[in-house]
Amino acid sequence: MNFTELVTKSRSYRRFYEEKTIDRSILEEMVNCARLIPSAQNLQPLKYLVVDGKERELVFQTLKWAGYLTEWDGPSEGERPAAYIVILSDTEISKNVKWDHGIAAQTILLCSMSHGIGGCIIGSVNKAQLSDSLYIPERYTIELVIALGYPKEKVVIDEINDGDDIRYYRDKDETHHVPKRKLKDVLFFPESFK
Ligand SMILES: Cc1cc2nc3c(=O)[nH]c(=O)nc-3n(C[C@H](O)[C@H](O)[C@H](O)COP(=O)(O)O)c2cc1C
Repeated sequence: MNFTELVTKSRSYRRFYEEKTIDRSILEEMVNCARLIPSAQNLQPLKYLVVDGKERELVFQTLKWAGYLTEWDGPSEGERPAAYIVILSDTEISKNVKWDHGIAAQTILLCSMSHGIGGCIIGSVNKAQLSDSLYIPERYTIELVIALGYPKEKVVIDEINDGDDIRYYRDKDETHHVPKRKLKDVLFFPESFK
């Protein structure tokens, strides 16, 4: 897979073969890749909590899935993530983490897809509940949760025109469609360049 193929395949997956566990070494490789990302002022304030045991249920209870799929309550038992990586920021290093967690999240997803593992960045997290149930010390702020597992759904990209609906949907075969704007519509040319 070349890099563009990897990025294209690295969609948000929300249904998994829950029973297919992810090797701990692969989960740690994902964190190792995230460790190497750029960081503002090279502060490296992020820490990573890998959850691949029974605590997965506690994480799952705090997540909101696929806001546009209003008829769907999230993955059912047997299709839930095999693991999570909770991205934390350490407030003793920085209280103002602006972008690092976004870069880390995508790096984790690309690393996971390079192993055929899918994932989804979850920002809609009940952070207070998750901190309490995992006993995360106050010093750490939960930034994002990455859900991970071997994908049990097909996800395709649909190219759309400017003004078209950007909401993802599932078709009658349960294929998940993700609308993406065309290259020509995201390449911006100011008048002065013409
Ligand atoms: C910062 C961020 C937060 C997100 N939060 C959620 C979330 O809370 N729940 C969810 O199901 N998907 C979430 N997503 C996934 C987006 O819905 C997804 O990226 C979008 O639908 C486009 O699909 P794609 O990732 O396959 O391109 C989030 C993505 C990003 C980048």
